[in-house]
Amino acid sequence: MTLLSRARRILASGAAALIALALVPLAPASAQYIDVPNPIVEQRADTAIYKHTDGYYYMTASVPDYKRVELRRSQTLAGLGSATPVTAFTAPSSGNLSGWIWAPDIQYVDGAWYLYFSASPSSSQFAQRLYWMRNTSADPTTGTWSAPQRLTTGWESFQLDPASFTLNGTRYFAWAQDSPSTSYNSHMYLARMTSPTTIDTATAIEIARPSYSWEMEGVAGVVEGPSPIVKNGRVFIAYSASATDSRYKLGLVSASASADLLSASSWTKRSTPVFQTANGVYGPGHGSFTVAEDGVTDILVYHARDYATPTPDALTDPNRHTRVQQLYWAADGYPFFGQPQATGSGQPGIRGQYSDKCVDDYDWNTANGALVKLYTCSTAAVQKWEFSYVGGYYRIKNLHASKCLDNLNGSAALNADVGLWSCNGGTAQDWSIVDQGSGWFSLRNRASGLCLDNYAWDAANGARLSMYTCNGVGAQLWRRG
Ligand code: AHR
Repeated sequence: MTLLSRARRILASGAAALIALALVPLAPASAQYIDVPNPIVEQRADTAIYKHTDGYYYMTASVPDYKRVELRRSQTLAGLGSATPVTAFTAPSSGNLSGWIWAPDIQYVDGAWYLYFSASPSSSQFAQRLYWMRNTSADPTTGTWSAPQRLTTGWESFQLDPASFTLNGTRYFAWAQDSPSTSYNSHMYLARMTSPTTIDTATAIEIARPSYSWEMEGVAGVVEGPSPIVKNGRVFIAYSASATDSRYKLGLVSASASADLLSASSWTKRSTPVFQTANGVYGPGHGSFTVAEDGVTDILVYHARDYATPTPDALTDPNRHTRVQQLYWAADGYPFFGQPQATGSGQPGIRGQYSDKCVDDYDWNTANGALVKLYTCSTAAVQKWEFSYVGGYYRIKNLHASKCLDNLNGSAALNADVGLWSCNGGTAQDWSIVDQGSGWFSLRNRASGLCLDNYAWDAANGARLSMYTCNGVGAQLWRRG
């Protein structure tokens, strides 16, 4: 880069930065590099994590013997593993809740805490029915929980996996239930709540049923574990499909936030899974959404095993562990789940599909204009990238250089350089995630409209990175990890 072009660039970047600051949302109040050692809590499945205004995460989940509802809290996600659980309810030796207790959810509504879960009699352990309990203590790990009461859905059949959310002042309840109209194990339903303990059963609608082969693997058909999140003007509900072994996976339904959510026609279902077995993580599913400690970065909570074949069976095997990782937002405003990150920590780099190497601040260079290249993936800081969502785009900051991934010349030329520059909010540093399927994504630069590219398909250490016409080929496919 000549002195003149550098001067031009500095002037341009200064002007661009001023214009950019006027045109694009300011960077989030804070952003956070997400690298939580997974799994965070062993032998806890169907995990619900609720981040409260008191700064604590409150977590509940299915326990291996399905005989109690437990609760724990921590001020950090990583701290949940060492937090001491307290028991909110223990299955009695007889009666309607003496069998299995499944998939509790925790919510804070109108000044009180609620635990929702399904339970069955020991005489018929799959005869699951929904229940609620209330605790008016400020800290739900203390105080007293009310005795479980039925939460009726309008018809009696196998029902499980409670979830709820509020939108425009209306509280909605989502759950899974066996429909008398099909032989599938479960469909997914939504209804309005008239109180934290009452479903307006007259409003209940089916929002999804098994309709793809990937929802019927090892079972007649499973659509369960609804997990809602509202963002970008839409309501998204992730759900779990197929048997709870390595074939378990996430699907996604969504509706416009301005639509009538209680009209079945408002909901559409993605035709392919959005999150599934990969990288030594088997059967990821049935989780929830929360935010990181910064209160801004979206987090996906899910369970998975670290081996393929559960024994003696997919329900009795206790090793569905709780895991968390960053949830992203694709260019179309939909959530991008990516792939399960491998067990351990230190992986969230940007790993190329073709090269299996990671985007690296080469030579540990911290100067403006430093080139990024590919290098063998490691846990080194030069490969750690903080993805900050600024509404449609990400600013991707290298933790070693504390500088942002940048289309260095603001160029739209094919094979233009990509490197690091002081983070300035310019469009040369705005990258959108383009979902390329199976958890792979491409990164499209806002200034050039071109995609980060492993140029010349070079898989050697030090291989050049540039931008090229977005084509979705292996040289342009990346994953976190
Ligand atoms: O973990 C128990 C049950 O197994 C959950 O309620 C359901 O989501 C899964 O199929």
